[in-house]
Amino acid sequence: MAHESGSVRHTESGLPIEPVYGPSALDGWDPERRLGAPGGYPFTRGVYPSMYTGRPWTMRQYAGFGTARESNARYRQLIAHGTTGLSVAFDLPTQMGHDSDTPIASGEVGKVGVAIDSVEDMRVLLGGIPLDRVSTSMTINAPAALLLLLYQLVGEEEGVAAAQLNGTIQNDVLKEYIARGTYIFPPQPSLRLTADIFQYCRAEIPRWNTISISGYHMAEAGASPAQEIAFTLANGIAYVRTAVAAGMAVDDFAPRLSFFFVSRTTLLEEVAKFRAARRIWARVMREEFGAENPRSMMLRFHTQTAGVQLTAQQPEVNLARVTVQGLAAVLGGTQSLHTNSFDEAIALPTDKSARLALRTQQVLAYETDVTATVDPFAGSYAVESMTDDVEEAAVALMRRVEDMGGAVAAIERGFQKDEIERNAYRIAQETDAGERVVVGVNRFQLDEEEPYEPLRVDPAIEAQQVERLAVLRDRRNARAVSAALGDLRKAAEGTDNVLYPMREALRARATVGEVCDALRGVWGTYVPTDAF
Ligand code: 3HC
Repeated sequence: MAHESGSVRHTESGLPIEPVYGPSALDGWDPERRLGAPGGYPFTRGVYPSMYTGRPWTMRQYAGFGTARESNARYRQLIAHGTTGLSVAFDLPTQMGHDSDTPIASGEVGKVGVAIDSVEDMRVLLGGIPLDRVSTSMTINAPAALLLLLYQLVGEEEGVAAAQLNGTIQNDVLKEYIARGTYIFPPQPSLRLTADIFQYCRAEIPRWNTISISGYHMAEAGASPAQEIAFTLANGIAYVRTAVAAGMAVDDFAPRLSFFFVSRTTLLEEVAKFRAARRIWARVMREEFGAENPRSMMLRFHTQTAGVQLTAQQPEVNLARVTVQGLAAVLGGTQSLHTNSFDEAIALPTDKSARLALRTQQVLAYETDVTATVDPFAGSYAVESMTDDVEEAAVALMRRVEDMGGAVAAIERGFQKDEIERNAYRIAQETDAGERVVVGVNRFQLDEEEPYEPLRVDPAIEAQQVERLAVLRDRRNARAVSAALGDLRKAAEGTDNVLYPMREALRARATVGEVCDALRGVWGTYVPTDAF
């Protein structure tokens, strides 16, 4: 909520919001240069000429817990309820490249997402899902290459050619060093792996979105809208530079870059934020990298409503927050949307709360008129002014990152993390002081909260998964696995693309943990510098 201090209110980015915007707000403002046409450079109005008048955004609900069987059941349920894209949440051991039967995994197996140890689990996860028709997002970063290859191997078994597969891997390890923390390798080998993925997908899986450069987690850690897009786009620039340095032409990989942002309850600033992000990225890709293909300049993005703004108090009030946040994403031109379930501040969503979250999107898409016209805020005195303001603030921050030597150098100095933590502290202070209203928390509270029965993950899940791994190791050809892992280590020591030997190791039923251990043995693991 924009905090109310003094007469002029401020946005989440700390920029003034005028009580009234009039014609003078757009004095000298050139719609041709600042807006362009929908689907045209600089894409301020959206990445497609027809936007939702041609096709509604993808309703892509993030889901996954327990073993592959439980998660597969939830995906089929969501598809039955009308979801139009899959989004896989993995448990922490999978995200960190550890097998379910390792000591470090104990207690986390199947908890915050699905446990995937091998191609056997991936096959169960995707059972009955038409991989030639559904696009699947996988929220996986350090071991993103492995999960992509497991997806490709299952597609192959189902007779779906790699060229037909469509989806996204998050594969954005830089933001993991800044927020979220599921990194494995040091920055340089991580960026090498990212470049290998770009090259592999261009050659083998051309319809796959190779990365989802994310601002969401930085926003959830406390980043303001201006910080969120500035640090995200700065990370994007680092990835583009890495791929170009690896010898790729920018138009060969940039069309398959994608982004991921949060949408907050402060709707007007969020719409301005999305429009500004598209305009900045289009200019960077054309002017700094010389991109010529318009698809290289289009900032296509997924949005998730703000998890950190959900309250455990009076959880049903979150339905109102998520509706406003979902509307902000749609008015801002998102390509894909996840709406949070109202009970997620308490526990994993139940079947009913997950369905209600999807229904919220369906009301926005089919009962409102926001899909009837493209970028309805275009030309608005207030939103165009706010778009310019948030763009200016973000570009200034990007320049500071650039002056430090770019995103990786700034990360190693702890710059982004410090800036975000400072903003998080400000938000906490304003909330504690009651300047920032959180309904049900510091105003309009109940004397006594009503009981709510959350979904619980069965602890027997871990034992089941450990048993599955024992059977897999027992049945596979151990010699073939060991030889394939040896080939992988050799590629990691050299400059060959590691995804090819990695794919053959996974095909031989090497596990996620064994493949990541092979790479750990060559590249080491990242230890945060004291700046963190
Ligand atoms: N006119 C013409 N064509 C159109 C169109 C229109 N109006 N609308 C869509 N299309 C076309 C597109 O061109 C595309 O065709 P293509 O595949 O040949 O290019 C097709 O229809 C699908 O459209 P989009 O690509 O726009 O939509 P998708 O949903 O397929 O992709 C994306 C969206 C953002 C590009 C993609 O990267 C994506 O799906 N990302 C999702 C990421 C995600 O779900 N992340 C979850 C993270 S959860 C997390 O991290 C938080 C946790 O930690 C808490």
